[in-house]
Formats: sequence, C-alpha cells, structure tokens
Amino acid sequence: MEPALNILVLMEETIRICDGESASDLRQSLQRLNACLFPVKYKDTYYRDAVLAGSYTKLAFYKDACVGNIACRLEETGPYIRVYIMTLGVLPSYRRMGIGSKLLQSVLGLCQQDPRVVDVYLHVQTNNDEAMEFYKNFDFQIVDTIFNYYIRLDPPDCYVLSRRLR
Ligand code: ACO
Repeated sequence: MEPALNILVLMEETIRICDGESASDLRQSLQRLNACLFPVKYKDTYYRDAVLAGSYTKLAFYKDACVGNIACRLEETGPYIRVYIMTLGVLPSYRRMGIGSKLLQSVLGLCQQDPRVVDVYLHVQTNNDEAMEFYKNFDFQIVDTIFNYYIRLDPPDCYVLSRRLR
C-alpha cells in the first residue's frame, strides 16, 4: 500500500490537512514545482525517499494552485530517526504569505509527536540569505560548513542547519 501523504491546503485564512495523494501524483507535483524552484534536477532516489517519508512530505495549495512543497527523508539509526529536509520551496508569487512557515511547522509538529525523532536538519547554500533568515525563525542553528558540497552551483559551499528536538 502506498504511504499516505498529508496535503497542506491553504485557502486564504483556512488551513486544512487532507490525506490521499497517490505516489505518482505526488511525484508529478514535486517535479513541476522543483523545476521552477531549484537549479538542480533531482534523481529517482529523491522522489522515492520523498514518498517513503509519508506525511513528512507535503504539498501546499493556495486555492486550487499547488504552490509549495516540503520533501523529507527519514534516516533511521537504531531507535532514532533524523528528519532530513531535502527541499522546501514556495513559488515566487506566493512567498512572504506564511506558506513556507506553515509547511515547516507542519513537519516540526509531526517530529514533536514522535519520540524517536532526535533532530531535523538540512543543507543550504551559503549565499541563500532568505532561507537563512527563514530558518532562523524556527531556531535552526548552523552546525557545520561544508566546502564544495554542490558540484554545479556557485558558491559550491553549504551550511548544515539543525534543530534538535530531544
Ligand atoms: N528575506 C528575509 N526574510 C525572509 C525572506 C526573505 N526573502 N523570506 C522569508 N523570510 C523570513 C521572514 O522573517 C518571514 O517573516 P515575515 O514575512 O513576517 O517577515 C519568515 O521568514 C516567514 O516567511 P514565509 O512567508 O513563511 O516564507 P515563504 O513562504 O516566503 O518561504 C522560502 C520561504 C521557502 C525560503 C522561500 O523563500 C523559497 O521558496 N525560496 C526558494 C527556495 C529555497 O531557497 N528554499 C530553501 C533552500 S534549503 C532547502 O530546501 C532544504
């Protein structure tokens, strides 16, 4: 059975979480959004991991339009889980409306409920000031800098941001 996906539906002031996006619909929506959002073509493993993460991967809708996503990978080590945010993005016309925050809050809420989750982490390009400002609001800390992390981006360096949960 395909894992259920939570869809974050934003209709002006009303937020609704629903289940039931199929894996192929999810993949198509992620592909469409990522092509507009990121200068990287994601491999099959990204889409496989995003679907396997179940409710930790979400789409945001504004009215009928699919305008953002958060896609996670769950990394299990013994009894613990680390949640890795592979992508978080909102289409340019829909930014600064709180949609990115709602996507991230929704994932952080799931993390709080699962005692196995120890932290949430991600990589962000060192010149991505907008994303750094955004994650600062959610108490993410820089825990590492990796030089030459990206092969095709300039600058090629990234920060590792992490928020510990327990
Ligand atoms: N400049 C400064 N601060 C910002 C900016 C910005 N451009 N964008 C968001 N913030 C901060 C502000 O404090 C903002 O609060 P305010 O609007 O009340 O001032 C707060 O973050 C919340 O903003 P939201 O409206 O919730 O965020 P948004 O929906 O615009 O999404 C995101 C933010 C996802 C970073 C968006 O800008 C985006 O899609 N950027 C391109 C993709 C990207 O860089 N993604 C992150 C890369 S890392 C990764 O994917 C794992």
